[in-house]
Amino acid sequence: MKVVITGAEGQLGHHLKKALCKKCKVYAFSRKGLDICNFKQAEDMVNDIKPDVIIHAAAVTNIQNAELNPEHTILVNSRSTQNLADISRKYNSKFVFISSAYVFDGKKAYYTEKDIPNPINMYGKSKLWGERMVRDYQPNHFIIRSSWIYGEKFIRYMFDKIMNQDKFCFDEMQIGSPTNVLEFSDFIFQVMQTDAYGTYHVTNQGDCSKYEYFNTIYNEFTNKPIQHEIRRNASMIIPTNCTLDNMEARSRGFHNLLPWKDSLIRFIREMDLGR
Ligand SMILES: NC(=O)c1ccc[n+]([C@@H]2O[C@H](COP(=O)([O-])OP(=O)(O)OC[C@H]3O[C@@H](n4cnc5c(N)ncnc54)[C@H](OP(=O)(O)O)[C@@H]3O)[C@@H](O)[C@H]2O)c1
Repeated sequence: MKVVITGAEGQLGHHLKKALCKKCKVYAFSRKGLDICNFKQAEDMVNDIKPDVIIHAAAVTNIQNAELNPEHTILVNSRSTQNLADISRKYNSKFVFISSAYVFDGKKAYYTEKDIPNPINMYGKSKLWGERMVRDYQPNHFIIRSSWIYGEKFIRYMFDKIMNQDKFCFDEMQIGSPTNVLEFSDFIFQVMQTDAYGTYHVTNQGDCSKYEYFNTIYNEFTNKPIQHEIRRNASMIIPTNCTLDNMEARSRGFHNLLPWKDSLIRFIREMDLGR
């Protein structure tokens, strides 16, 4: 099976490439190798490779930058997604689009795939518009929404901050489900081999506050109490509740991801941080 991955140097793309290389012929593109805003380059790439699956993980993901540069965010997250979805239909490739819990307003808990999105920031809006393009342009799609995906890059960043005794600034009120990138990648591998097209919510089981999430990581590296400042950044509009009900995956017989805390602790303990 030939698989193209966009955003291959990102947190998810990096792990996806590593996981899928063992099972498929992977063509992984960082921004340097393929700028998805270059529509012609994207089509030439697909025409050359003729992949069975395109996993589209490239995106503008920085919430503040998205707010400051809405036109660029829409170009990358929405219009380039439309272009890739359209190309994938033309060349008979299945299309996997990674989307986000931020398409919802965060006013309730455990959104299902049937809930109506209502994004409250530019990042969420651009991801939702991307989703709509995918549905319009490519019937053979998997739209997979998640939240709080962590991988080596994020844990290493946290580790360095803890070692430097930097303070953490975060919104204690935010609730979500930390999601292990390895389990998430495995779900993508399972679903992309099927014809069970549609929209899926995929997160580890259970939920916690940002405080509990960061404190769990903190406790793996030090027994000192977490050094943090509570912040609700007025310039950063973020949904308070990012929990997702994984209803569609369950009903189609995909196995649940592990409870978030067990999975997070195991991930950290298996990482080589050169301590
Ligand atoms: N992390 C999460 O908690 C989370 C949750 C839900 C959904 N998602 C979705 O999952 C996907 C992967 O997220 P991530 O956490 O891996 O984010 P990430 O680490 O920021 O990776 C995104 C990658 O996309 C690349 N990119 C940006 N603009 C591009 C362009 N014009 N052409 C080609 N590549 C471009 C970036 O390259 P540069 O570094 O060079 O800019 C970066 O390597 C995204 O679609 C995101 O919306 C993430």
